[in-house]
Amino acid sequence: MVLKQLNVVAKAMVADGKGILAADESSPTIKKRFDTIDTESTEESRRRYREMLITTPGVEKYIGGVIMYDETLRQATSDGVPFAKYMADLGMIPGIKVDMGAKPLAGFPGETITEGLDGLRGRLEEYYKLGARFAKWRAVITIGKGLPSEFCLQANAHALARYAALCQEANIVPIVEPEVLMDGDHSIGRCAEVTSAALQALFAELAAHKVALEGIILKPNMVISGTEASNRAGTQEVAEATLRCLKAHVPASVPGIAFLSGGQTAEEATEHLSLMNAAGDLPWELSFSYGRALQAPALDAWRGKEENYKAGQDALIKRAKLNSLAHLGKYDS
Ligand code: 13P
Repeated sequence: MVLKQLNVVAKAMVADGKGILAADESSPTIKKRFDTIDTESTEESRRRYREMLITTPGVEKYIGGVIMYDETLRQATSDGVPFAKYMADLGMIPGIKVDMGAKPLAGFPGETITEGLDGLRGRLEEYYKLGARFAKWRAVITIGKGLPSEFCLQANAHALARYAALCQEANIVPIVEPEVLMDGDHSIGRCAEVTSAALQALFAELAAHKVALEGIILKPNMVISGTEASNRAGTQEVAEATLRCLKAHVPASVPGIAFLSGGQTAEEATEHLSLMNAAGDLPWELSFSYGRALQAPALDAWRGKEENYKAGQDALIKRAKLNSLAHLGKYDS
């Protein structure tokens, strides 16, 4: 019965052309974003910014779930309605980032392991009471000279699987995110190899930890050239390479795949998603869980100023709508 509920929630997060708004920047990360618009990061400015996003009129047509940070899940609208309740009343599922960040992996220079398993069972219990029905954990894989190591892939897959099993025990859908970074001058072929290895390690660990695939959402990177690569692959090639990789490694029992944007421009992220969906005949819903690709235009329009509040919402709804069209394979660049 619990598995059935998890499956219902996972499907709802990506149903009807909807996707996920990743608004779960930690306090240090949101400070970096606010620095770019000369806005001070305070508890109130962060609350107001997240309020602007979440209360955008009509956004629930395109957004099925919102990932929050611990602080945000405990905050409320200016009228005093807890954000989680505000969303749930509109049919957007509240979610929470539960990892404690990627930290240097001892003995493996240049590689990271994501922390946050200690005490996670208790935190999940509290988050459920606060209204969260899904969670997120991000593993970070770097491509470089001799990187990633097999050990790093295994260690991160193991941690992702332990997290996912704890989430399902708590009746929370885990978003499982093994992010292969775009940073570097590697080719799209190298990204395909590493993404394949990361997914292979991940699904082996998920099986070993008895995670029910019907009750997860996978959040992968797209298979794409490194940002510094000399001959970066075009949009069609990215779409084809990504689909090939996912079809080879992601079982059909996974209800939804929701990409991260990872530093792609908002337009690229939308176009790639649409091309993949236009190819048709996919075993899973193929959607978005974008942070920067949904928020960057809104952040830029807002610039921390009350008079730009509506302009920020207009920018968000535009990207949300276009990405929803892309989920349906109907975005026309
Ligand atoms: P980006 O879409 O900005 O990569 O963020 C998504 C996310 O949640 C990363 O964990």
